[in-house]
Amino acid sequence: MSVARTIAEARAALRSLPRPLGFVPTMGALHEGHLSLVDAAQARCASVAASVFVNPTQFGQGEDIDAYPRDDADFALLEARGAQAVFAPSPAEMYPDGFATGVTVRGPLVDAYEGAARPGHFDGVALVVAKLLGVVQPDVLFLGEKDAQQLAVLRRVVRDLDLPVEVAAVPTVREPDGLARSSRNRYLTVEQRAEAPDLYRALLAGRAAAGEPASAPKDVIVAVTSALVLPAFPLDEDERLAALRGEAPPAAPRFDIDYIAIVDADTFVPQTTLGPRSLLIAAASLGSTRLIDNVPLHPSAYPAEDATA
Ligand code: PAJ
Repeated sequence: MSVARTIAEARAALRSLPRPLGFVPTMGALHEGHLSLVDAAQARCASVAASVFVNPTQFGQGEDIDAYPRDDADFALLEARGAQAVFAPSPAEMYPDGFATGVTVRGPLVDAYEGAARPGHFDGVALVVAKLLGVVQPDVLFLGEKDAQQLAVLRRVVRDLDLPVEVAAVPTVREPDGLARSSRNRYLTVEQRAEAPDLYRALLAGRAAAGEPASAPKDVIVAVTSALVLPAFPLDEDERLAALRGEAPPAAPRFDIDYIAIVDADTFVPQTTLGPRSLLIAAASLGSTRLIDNVPLHPSAYPAEDATA
């Protein structure tokens, strides 16, 4: 596996790779979620390239890029999964002095949800992915469904800028208890880690509600919300009596919910009726760790691993 640190090195290394070339952009600290993208690229393409770049332009004010996890094991993991080439540039290589160009995405795709929580984030993602595609020039770009809004934004960017690449979406890889794999999971305390899979369980409760006859998006959102705020375990008798006397809350507050919504998976416009493109999305924090997850609501879109539920 070749490792290129500069754009010139990357171009030289990639020129000779057999086509089609699959490309997996990452910010490193790789886990099975990332590596499943490499596997998907292997399955479809003659060669696979990945990038490892913690992109400064997608971090907002108050978001600590220096705290983003870095892991020396990344290259070995990519090599073990069969990637042929890695592009791991420095920030100065990607954004040299005089850099002056931006990519701006507008409208409902970025106005709400992750775009609202992280102003400017998707412009930074769009910019770096446009640049990476310019360097790597792959045939297929592999992205995770875990970051559903990012996926929708990048599909839009590829279309709007006429970038000659196909976008392939890869289902979310989960821990055995259902928690979506994420580099942020390492920040959960033991207690929070035990509660974290309830976010996915709540989404599955929403999906079940969506399967009821005549159910509407609001029924689904009520089901998800109550699954998230009710205590995970039944109270014991003393706790129940104390709660009834108003002496103690029924349980420590669990998730701090940012949003629960049903949107069109391509446009991220909220839906008033359920349909084949309905995507149930949620973001909620446990302490200072913000988790995001999503499930498609239409049976034809269910990934096979959802049997873990
Ligand atoms: P990063 O968070 O490192 O994620 C890289 C890719 O891995 C993204 O496409 C993401 O959706 C996918 N991924 C993460 N967790 C996953 C999981 N549990 N299952 C399946 N896929 C998963 O997303 C970024 O980096 C950056 O924004 C990037 C696109 C590289 C631009 O800087």
